[in-house]
Amino acid sequence: MFCYQFLNLKIFVIMIAIFVIAILGGVRCASITFNNSTSFGVATSAYQIEGAWNENGKGESIWDYYTHNTRLITDNSTGDVACDSYHQYKVDIDLIKSMGLKQYRFSIAWTRILPTGQIDNINQKGLDHYSNFIDALIANGIEPVVTMYHWDHPRSLDILGGWNHPKMVTYMRDYADTLFFHYGDRVKTWITINEPHSVCVVLAQYLAARVDSTFPLGTSEYMCAHHMLLAHSEIWGLYQRKYKRTQRGKIGIALSVQSYFPATDSLEDKLAVERVYEYTFGWFINPLVFGDYPTGMKKGIQSRSLQQGFQESRLPKFSKLQQITLRQSFDFIGVNNYISFYVRADRTLSQNPSFTNDRQATVFEDPEWNTNYEKKIKIYTTGLGNILRHIRDNYKNPVLFISEQGYNNQGGLNDTDRVLYIKSALKVVWNAINVDGIRIKSYLIWSLMDVFEWVSGYAPKLGLYSVNFTDPKRTRTPKESAKFITEFLKTKTLTLS
Ligand code: NOJ
Repeated sequence: MFCYQFLNLKIFVIMIAIFVIAILGGVRCASITFNNSTSFGVATSAYQIEGAWNENGKGESIWDYYTHNTRLITDNSTGDVACDSYHQYKVDIDLIKSMGLKQYRFSIAWTRILPTGQIDNINQKGLDHYSNFIDALIANGIEPVVTMYHWDHPRSLDILGGWNHPKMVTYMRDYADTLFFHYGDRVKTWITINEPHSVCVVLAQYLAARVDSTFPLGTSEYMCAHHMLLAHSEIWGLYQRKYKRTQRGKIGIALSVQSYFPATDSLEDKLAVERVYEYTFGWFINPLVFGDYPTGMKKGIQSRSLQQGFQESRLPKFSKLQQITLRQSFDFIGVNNYISFYVRADRTLSQNPSFTNDRQATVFEDPEWNTNYEKKIKIYTTGLGNILRHIRDNYKNPVLFISEQGYNNQGGLNDTDRVLYIKSALKVVWNAINVDGIRIKSYLIWSLMDVFEWVSGYAPKLGLYSVNFTDPKRTRTPKESAKFITEFLKTKTLTLS
């Protein structure tokens, strides 16, 4: 009898043990953990947060000019004060540190360092400001990831022609040289230019619509991008020759990489998706990886230009030497990813010279996404996975930074939609690294806090922290997403549900 009971007990204990092991095993399977090869951080840019637009010798940037003198901005707001980060950078550092983040991607205002844009006039106070800032970041265990140009070039250089002028390549190279010289001992990760497509296409279209209807669309987009690519590769070359041996830093560029789905299953729409990728992303990464623009773009713009009465393509050509200099001129590619779109082939667009007409596609969002954010987030983050594999397969699997990822909503501290978005994106990123073999080194959230959102003023909210823009102190308050990030970073583990 005793023996029988003992046997039963033994079986019971074994069953419990099996049960516990199964549960633990299951729990382990149902979670993912990032290892130390991926760094986490947040991103911002100078004009969007600093304020102090004319303090301590800073020169006028194009955004100072646009916000003060034109009707470009929807609500007429300015970045004159913004988040006041010029004065409160130590507060920002505390917030980043308190969340457990290890990288901060910020940009340097060109006009604080070189008020007129050219190197004959260096502003010592500007140099000191970023030097102190970089030191403070490092002292707090946060690695500075520095963007040299986040859209706010000097107004005086714009008068000289801005990115439509080839000389801009030299001005940007000299500016970069100044940054390497003064900060390269401490800054080891540089991003030359942020989202050339947004400046050369999106801003140009806004300027044409709201500021100057004579803006030369259809030509300026291509010239602007051409000079940005050349500036990037010159800076890369300069660094390799002059600084790499002693400073040992890495240089990349941040590209806007949204994802696109065909509106229907038709071959026409699928080809239109390919075209849209080419005109937004291939336009930049193709020269950086292979030394030239994508063949489809070259052929398409050439033939339309000739039909339109031009003597040559509106898309400029690279010389052989430029092609060699461009090829593989990066250590990493920054991927700025936010949303997805549907794409429909459109052959009915007008024949006038224009970037949109060249692309021959209509890009749109599904109206249902406005009422169903879960569905929207699913398609956004599925799109992120697709685009990461697209880069791996078509551009030699480069090292990537997710240099921006963020979610735009109406504001409020209870941002469960943003938490869901970040969680879903993190799962996609984990999968990309661990299953798809994609080399992602950093994941940077846009943004640390709500900021000046360019032509849309302060209405869009993308921050982990909310900023009270009516309070002179610009108080920052954590949202649910900031709390989520803090918790996540304690273990870098996510449960899959
Ligand atoms: C990309 C830009 O780099 C950044 O300046 C902007 O605020 C975000 N997108 C959000 O729109």
